[in-house]
Amino acid sequence: MRKVRAIILKQFGDPGVVAQPGEIELPSIEPHEALVRMIAAPINPADLNVIEGKYPIRPELPGVPGGEGIGVVEEVGSAVSDLEVGTLVLVSGTGTWREACVVLAEDLVAVPAGVAPEQAAMLRVNPATALCLLREFVNLQPGDWIVQNAANSGVGRAVIQIAHHFGWRTLNIVRRAEALADLAGEPGATHCFVEDEHLPAAIDGAVRGAPIRLALNAVGGESALALANLLAQGGTIVTYGAMARRPLRIPNGLLIFKDLAWRGFWVTRWYEQASRAAQAALFAELIALLQAGVLHSPIERIYPLEAASEALAHASRGARRGKILFGFDPALFKV
Ligand SMILES: NC(=O)c1ccc[n+]([C@@H]2O[C@H](COP(=O)([O-])OP(=O)(O)OC[C@H]3O[C@@H](n4cnc5c(N)ncnc54)[C@H](OP(=O)(O)O)[C@@H]3O)[C@@H](O)[C@H]2O)c1
Repeated sequence: MRKVRAIILKQFGDPGVVAQPGEIELPSIEPHEALVRMIAAPINPADLNVIEGKYPIRPELPGVPGGEGIGVVEEVGSAVSDLEVGTLVLVSGTGTWREACVVLAEDLVAVPAGVAPEQAAMLRVNPATALCLLREFVNLQPGDWIVQNAANSGVGRAVIQIAHHFGWRTLNIVRRAEALADLAGEPGATHCFVEDEHLPAAIDGAVRGAPIRLALNAVGGESALALANLLAQGGTIVTYGAMARRPLRIPNGLLIFKDLAWRGFWVTRWYEQASRAAQAALFAELIALLQAGVLHSPIERIYPLEAASEALAHASRGARRGKILFGFDPALFKV
């Protein structure tokens, strides 16, 4: 049986400590499966929460973390007729932080050659979330305003890029002034703000009385309340992240006098509930947006598996200028 290198989680705890490189055995390929050699896989906040044991999904231990990534098909089972060896594929939900995996072929998403693999590796979670947040809650019209916090995050940037592409305008809130400079290169990020006491007046000055009907909350606590206060009557605030780890506070008046809708979104649930056709349509759209240059996620660093502690500690830090990935192809390393 072939052995491959992987990040192995033996107990829940501090990501930089409990997830360590090791070796796992690759099972033999069943008729409907494929062997994928991994190229790259991001470290998302949800992966860190999984390792900490603070996520609704708790893998069996010992296990391999990693919720998404990209690889190349190396071998297919005898019953697989629609997937060729050499195809670039998105891999999900199988513990992607490993050199290779054996998975059901029907769960793989083929990606056209020529797409930057390290960018495609991140499509399934953050850009998919951004697209759903913009599509599934409010019927946005061209020129409509959307407000969001953590605007410099992976999801936040994808929201800016997709909204700009469709003609929706974003009000982008960050928690520190340096992040404004990071967003300056985004064509759609024309209205960016630091979250402080001047925020309501600054936003008023930008929208000039136009209603804000959608707010996207990745932070929680007081930041979420600041977003809700900016919404027009009947507006919707969608919580999809809780970076500040602070509960939401909902003043009675925002329900009585403004009738705001407080919604939540979890892309994992979206994938569980969506038909194969709906998922295929989502991936086709995301890949087209990537190919068109609409979607682009800055990468701060790509680490080899051997540098797991350093990579996970880096991904756990705030004030990053881009995502942290594991790279399994030496051509990707920028260590
Ligand atoms: N519900 C879903 O389906 C779904 C899908 C994807 C992502 N998410 C969630 O969305 C959030 C963003 O994910 P991502 O991958 O886009 O993030 P990311 O690229 O890793 O960026 C993290 C963001 O969070 C901010 N942040 C970190 N600690 C914070 C704190 N204590 N208070 C306020 N802001 C803080 C960072 O600001 P600085 O740069 O200033 O540090 C940065 O903007 C996470 O909570 C993630 O779990 C949810």
